[in-house]
Amino acid sequence: MKEYTLNRLIRIATALTLERDIDRLLFRILKEAIDYTGCDGGTVYLKEGEALRHCYMITRSRGLKAKAGDGGIDLPPVPLTRGHICACAAMDHVKINIPDVYLNEQYDFSGSRRYDRLNDYRTVSMLAVPMEVLPDDTGNGDVIGVLQLINAMDENGEIVAFPEACERIVFALASLAAVSLRSNRLARSIYDILNSFVRVMVGAIDTRSSYNANHTKSMVRYAENFLTWMESADIPQDKKIPVSEREPFLMSIWLHDIGKLVIPLSVMDKATKLGRLETDVRHRLEIADIMERLRAAEDPAQKSEAEEKRRQYREAAELIFHANVTGILEEETIEQLNRCAKIRCLTSDGTAVPLLTEEELDAITVPRGTLTEKERRVMETHVVQTARMLSEMKFAGTFAQVPAWADAHHELLDGSGYPDGKTGAAIPREVRLMTILDIYDALTAEDRPYKPPMPPEEAFAILTEMADEGKIDAELLTLFRESNAWTRKTE
Ligand SMILES: [Fe+2]
Ligand SMILES: [Fe+2]
Repeated sequence: MKEYTLNRLIRIATALTLERDIDRLLFRILKEAIDYTGCDGGTVYLKEGEALRHCYMITRSRGLKAKAGDGGIDLPPVPLTRGHICACAAMDHVKINIPDVYLNEQYDFSGSRRYDRLNDYRTVSMLAVPMEVLPDDTGNGDVIGVLQLINAMDENGEIVAFPEACERIVFALASLAAVSLRSNRLARSIYDILNSFVRVMVGAIDTRSSYNANHTKSMVRYAENFLTWMESADIPQDKKIPVSEREPFLMSIWLHDIGKLVIPLSVMDKATKLGRLETDVRHRLEIADIMERLRAAEDPAQKSEAEEKRRQYREAAELIFHANVTGILEEETIEQLNRCAKIRCLTSDGTAVPLLTEEELDAITVPRGTLTEKERRVMETHVVQTARMLSEMKFAGTFAQVPAWADAHHELLDGSGYPDGKTGAAIPREVRLMTILDIYDALTAEDRPYKPPMPPEEAFAILTEMADEGKIDAELLTLFRESNAWTRKTE
């Protein structure tokens, strides 16, 4: 048994406090206890319901270092009953130190003996210590797991009993682990609450406009695939998104379009250029056509003029309703639409009005997509709304950057993005990646009401063009393409 210095205790306490990965934390505490006592091995268990689950097992003389679920340990959980020493340590909140398990009659060691038989091993001394946080007002501490050590050894490598002096240190280590585990679990449960809240919010978007919720879910899937690929990809470390940023980054994607909750559906889901105005135009043309037929019927002298008018309406209707569902309009078509907007139409009270109102003409002559300038500006406010909503929430620690990342997903490196027109270095890598995922999904989505999906090659051609223009990060785009994270796998 080594001398346990204060320095060493401080070092391990600090390391455990900082460790966010529960697996690593458990392994570390087990290894530290084994190193300190100089024993041959041990097991760390976590309490789950009414049982203790094996998490890590080390047997130095066998070169065994196994993690549960890794194919290394496939042992059933230990029920919290009197039959097992580790269970007794957990149930009674005590450390149990047995010099020789084969000579002890107080506990049932059939499990250890079975292990010995199967592995040609001889368990002699054993120390089981509960991993327990300090007692609260009710008297008992909260047992989180058990640290069990086997076969203490002296300087000559002879198996001896665990000295009483080491019990306190092992107990202190187990308590440190318990405190770290508990704070880790608390942090995890807060994250889980936040995560479930975020999903409820995205669910709310789903009920308004399912395509947008699918958009968010698709982006999360691409990001998960990409980050997993990136972890083992052969690229320099400084080009990678750190593993510690995985959860905050995914959270920022979940939230990036949350501001769309307050964008009117007539804008967000606008499938055609005219949108809700289409009914009015159709109605006006129908009335005008009827009025011309009446005119012809009432006065045969006006028949040919009325017929000519009806022909003009038919041609105008064909032009307008075709343009209405066409993504990109030619200059010539826009000129034709401008001309036909002036065609006079009779209303039911006999007055003549232009075929299209100014608002309708504005909408139908949108050269690209379905949104007018005014509607596009309304749509763009979704990032400002996202920022406003997220500023009301408290993101701390590793999640502190979530709002900044989410708010900036429409910024472009050359300053042509919105809302702030940020440039280059002001846009972090996480945002640059989110922007690529966002554009890729917007282009290839199969469920957008206003446009057909684009094949991935075409989407990448557009993205490459944007990278060449200095709008998006070319390096990240290459990595994203290489990763195949964008393939639409069915889950
Ligand atoms: Fe957006
Ligand atoms: Fe988006």
